[in-house]
Amino acid sequence: MLSTIKGRWTSPGLEMRMNVKNYVRFEFSSLPENVSFARSCVGAFASQLECTLEDIEEIKLVVSEAVSNSIIHGYNNDPSQKIEVMVSIFDNGSLEIIVKDFGKGIEDIEQAMQPTYSSNPTHMGLGFTFMRSFMDEMEVLSEPGKGTSVRLQRHFPSQGHQAMA
Ligand SMILES: Nc1ncnc2c1ncn2[C@@H]1O[C@H](COP(=O)(O)OP(=O)(O)OP(=O)(O)O)[C@@H](O)[C@H]1O
Ligand SMILES: [Mg+2]
Repeated sequence: MLSTIKGRWTSPGLEMRMNVKNYVRFEFSSLPENVSFARSCVGAFASQLECTLEDIEEIKLVVSEAVSNSIIHGYNNDPSQKIEVMVSIFDNGSLEIIVKDFGKGIEDIEQAMQPTYSSNPTHMGLGFTFMRSFMDEMEVLSEPGKGTSVRLQRHFPSQGHQAMA
């Protein structure tokens, strides 16, 4: 059957990986109230980068989308399951966010990433489109029956005079 499949969208020139300067990792129950917890945590962590409040709002939005997807689609709203989030800041000014679940997985990642595609008719099918448009890189790894991991990356170029939070 299907092995690990991968959907990837990236901007050219962002392949170079630098050293991790700081990271945070946390896990939580797949409860809807934890969406705002996760988005606030990641927003607070990302604010140590030199970036605007608008950038932070965009980061929070993509975290909400990815975490909501895990809760709704990955776990079918089962609150006994867990979601992991890992956020890293690299010394070149890149922010990487990984949202991982161990839920039902995605059969066809290409289709899932299409704008307005949703497996649930009550949804708009725009979560991946938002993630893709607000981030420089998006990678989706998924295995049906095993889970899904979404890696999002965005580069913040002007980190020269960064104040430590
Ligand atoms: N973590 C996940 N586990 C299983 N399926 C997922 C996961 N994330 C996304 N999907 C699948 O990909 C589809 C597209 O996701 P996307 O976030 O773009 O739209 P949506 O969640 O359906 O709608 P919206 O985000 O606008 O509420 C989903 O309908 C679902 O079938
Ligand atoms: Mg969604």
